[in-house]
Amino acid sequence: MTKQDFIPKAYHTKIENGTITWESPSNIALVKYWGKKKNQIPENPSISFTLDNCKTITTLSFVKRDLSTVLKVTPDFSFEVFLDGEKKEGFKSKIQTFFERIELYLPFLRDYHFKIETSNTFPHSSGIASSASGMSALALCLMSIEKELSVISSAIDKSHFSDDYFNQKASFLARLGSGSACRSIEGDLIVWGESKSVEGSSGLFGVKYPYQVHENFKEYQDTILLIDKGEKQVSSTVGHNLMHNHPFAQNRFQQAHENLEELKSILESGNLDKFIALIESEALTLHAMMMTSMPYFILMKPNTLEIINKIWNFRKDTGLHIGFTLDAGANVHVLYPKKEAEVILEFIKNELVAYCQNGHYICDRIGFGAKQL
Ligand code: PMV
Repeated sequence: MTKQDFIPKAYHTKIENGTITWESPSNIALVKYWGKKKNQIPENPSISFTLDNCKTITTLSFVKRDLSTVLKVTPDFSFEVFLDGEKKEGFKSKIQTFFERIELYLPFLRDYHFKIETSNTFPHSSGIASSASGMSALALCLMSIEKELSVISSAIDKSHFSDDYFNQKASFLARLGSGSACRSIEGDLIVWGESKSVEGSSGLFGVKYPYQVHENFKEYQDTILLIDKGEKQVSSTVGHNLMHNHPFAQNRFQQAHENLEELKSILESGNLDKFIALIESEALTLHAMMMTSMPYFILMKPNTLEIINKIWNFRKDTGLHIGFTLDAGANVHVLYPKKEAEVILEFIKNELVAYCQNGHYICDRIGFGAKQL
């Protein structure tokens, strides 16, 4: 597939108005994406677990606009955004940029007024990025409109609209909203970025991990410890940009390719010790890139390190397969297999939750992707 394949030929149906709702999950990367080329193409491949409980639910209502008065002037996009029922002017510029980036691929965008109503299953101020779930939910709603516009005499233009095409284009669009959002359309393991280890992988959209995965990784658990709910001091966009001219960038990109290749054999064999070593190294490398950028920055907090040390000690003492990963923030994702969940969750509640802001944490696990409601 190339990006030209996502430019629609013609729509067959006229629609005056409608309402569509999708829920879409967040995801957590095992091999991290950090650094991008033009048009949100990643510098290296990444792979993520799709989550199950952390989701955004978005309802998109649309009404055809009367453009006759606008005459020759290109009309602006027309939309309003609500979070939990409250109008959010602050979200508009991000969506405006998103619409500008995807207009070529969804030429109906200026024809309608959109009302975007969104809510998250996790607290907005939890420090969990809602951009992956939020952008993927919106991309899916827009794809549902495109699908309706592509109906030919009550049947979908099948040649154009297979489920694969729908998901690929939804992922392609979501990527243009927020890179990692392209890994939130499906589950349970998604690869994004070209890798010679993964057939069909692409920088344009996420693909389902196509190889065998050992039983050990089924229903894998992710308990998210919320350490700092404040606004991040450095956004992901700024962080990605600091990988340009970063002294370690090329080695890091190469390492991500190698780690993905290694993870492939770990996922097949079910070797949990190797899995933990790989994901923890990826998490710390991500933060090492931040600390060695110019300007440098640190997103971990003292409690992030307290928790990491507690996890290491507990693992040493018990031999249980508890590990962690981090995203671009202070929160810790504690990852562990289902069969050890009881003891590990007890440890988390007794020993780790004290380090969370207001004792807040979220129990999640590997999930299977977005759903239309
Ligand atoms: O999708 P963005 O631009 O918010 O970047 C996300 C980057 C990480 O979460 C740190 C890593 C990843 O692969 O998700």
